[in-house]
Amino acid sequence: MIKNDYSTAADILTSSRKTIALTGAGISVESGIPPFRGKGGMWEIYDPFEFAHIDSYLRQPEKVWQVFLSELVNTLNQAKPNNGHKGLADLEAMGRLSTVVTQNVDGLHQAAGNSDVIEFHGTFAWHQCMSCQNRLETHELDLSALPPRCGCGGIFRPECVFFGEMIPPDALERSNQLAIQCDAILVVGTSASVQPAAMIPGIAKSVGAKVIEINLEETPLTHRITDVFLGGSAGEVVPRLVSELKVRG
Ligand code: OAD
Repeated sequence: MIKNDYSTAADILTSSRKTIALTGAGISVESGIPPFRGKGGMWEIYDPFEFAHIDSYLRQPEKVWQVFLSELVNTLNQAKPNNGHKGLADLEAMGRLSTVVTQNVDGLHQAAGNSDVIEFHGTFAWHQCMSCQNRLETHELDLSALPPRCGCGGIFRPECVFFGEMIPPDALERSNQLAIQCDAILVVGTSASVQPAAMIPGIAKSVGAKVIEINLEETPLTHRITDVFLGGSAGEVVPRLVSELKVRG
């Protein structure tokens, strides 16, 4: 593993025929969305088993909304793509990035302009009625009484993956396929501690792909499979990598 070598990272991206990215909460921190783990992380304030497990939602949807989801709606409503998201969109526009696999549910990669985004943990942009399966965009929900209810009386749930639920099969299958096909993977702002998402870089590495990791701190991947570690915030590092590629033409 080599550190902060932008030239080598750019070489990898230049010679790669297919590059994908795996992103996590860290890429959205500069958009005002707190991460899950570490200092200021959501799981420091909220117990994930109490507020992010499907059994808790089914048992106490009102409490999960009052304590956790109402605030999440407000935070996500205000969030705009930052330079990290925009840098990944630039890489796609330059023909250097094909797909973003994201663990985030905030829709910011699409808002930044990436056209092929796999939402590994689903999305918070939509809700579905648990009784009649009617779907509404989150901004259309009536939140005057919690939990939000459908016209049929059923309770809405966000279309994101709760703990205790399966990864959407299409997202899992496509991500695994891309990991096997890619020559390089950018791993941005993830603690790589939640499976099966954390396996994607290892799958790519096992078939010969190069791993470029962008994070404020080292992760379990860094000394195991990372080829180039670029330390710093995604909003600074990704644009710097884009500039390094642009000067090469
Ligand atoms: P985590 O909160 O576990 O990790 C965030 C990572 O981002 C850490 O490694 C930080 O060092 C790094 N980081 C923080 N700020 C950064 C910045 N500005 N630039 C670059 N890196 C930064 O988030 P995830 O790895 O995404 O799952 O967590 C994975 C899953 O755990 C989430 O999708 C969620 C959660 O429980 C579900 O809800 C199912």
